[in-house]
Amino acid sequence: MTTTITLTGAGGQIGYALLFRIAAGDLLGPDEKVRLRLLEIPRGLAAAEGAALELQDGAFDLLEHVEVTDDAAVGFDGCDLALLVGARPRGPGMERGDLLAANGGIFGPQGRAIAENAARGVRVTVVGNPANTNTLIAAAHADGIPAERFSALTRLDENRARAQLAQTLGVPVGTIARVPIWGNHSATQFPDVSHATVAGLPVVPALEKIVDDVPTWLDETFVPRVAKRGAEIIQVRGSSSVASAANATIDHVRDWVAGTEDWTSAGVVSHGEYGVPEGLICSFPVRAIDGEWRIVEGLELDDRARARIDASVAELVEERDAVRALGLL
Ligand code: NAD
Ligand code: LMR
Repeated sequence: MTTTITLTGAGGQIGYALLFRIAAGDLLGPDEKVRLRLLEIPRGLAAAEGAALELQDGAFDLLEHVEVTDDAAVGFDGCDLALLVGARPRGPGMERGDLLAANGGIFGPQGRAIAENAARGVRVTVVGNPANTNTLIAAAHADGIPAERFSALTRLDENRARAQLAQTLGVPVGTIARVPIWGNHSATQFPDVSHATVAGLPVVPALEKIVDDVPTWLDETFVPRVAKRGAEIIQVRGSSSVASAANATIDHVRDWVAGTEDWTSAGVVSHGEYGVPEGLICSFPVRAIDGEWRIVEGLELDDRARARIDASVAELVEERDAVRALGLL
């Protein structure tokens, strides 16, 4: 079988890190051929064309065809998976929400072009920031495509949270599970360890053996470290995360298509779960079943978790209202 994948921002940093992993089979496995459509704006076309030449030189068995374009109708034609990466990254001192005005305008036209040109059953992953609200804009413009087929990347935050826990506990990261991200892909996000496990056992008692005061460590060290990791990367390397973002995008899309047994995190449309206003794109604990994200329901939230989730959801409401005021929604 062959899957058609459209990557926007293919001439950019994350695009360059993603393309070769997709062509190598990391996204859909060793038996699925891929057709790539690289969608750029005119300024980014030369870089995307260069990447296409290198893809050819990679001699990837799974890669059937590569097309570079700045025409959204061509770019999304027949696409099964759309990866919306193309957007401006933030610089030092900015919050991701500061990009709303600069990037929000990209996602309405792309949502419309997806609705008009993509394959039935298309699944859309938004990476470009601010990812949750850009997803909301794209989904709102994609007439006829259920909002459930759109999701925002928060897997990078979850991977960061699992890595921080593993480092603190001195265990391999693969032994850490169930660390969902709630809310916005922003500094208000809530990485939640209350249900987390290490080698199948609860994480909190394991942390208590290492950290003096676990609630204080969570509030003052762990949560801010994870929530502000994007800013830390920008400060240290001078530009925003690239390879780890591409890696998380691969994790997210692979799991969405192939399914998950355990929980992961994704920004998905709320139907009112956990009191999150209907229609917002909020990160929740999710499973992927039969190609659909399913929110893990019925989890108990203590007061601390509730307050943090409410704060992040309030920010999502503010962002939604801001893009409405800008006429983008
Ligand atoms: P980059 O500047 O290197 O590349 C962006 C590319 O997008 C450029 O080549 C640009 O020409 C292209 N582009 C701009 N508008 C476009 C449009 N309308 N259609 C098609 N292409 C368009 O940036 P990057 O480092 O690759 O980051 C891309 C985005 O991903 C940024 O918004 C960044 O903040 C975001 N990001 C999100 C996460 C996450 O976890 N959700 C993680 C890292 C980065
Ligand atoms: C990240 O989390 O690394 C990205 O969203 C980039 C950023 O602006 O922090």
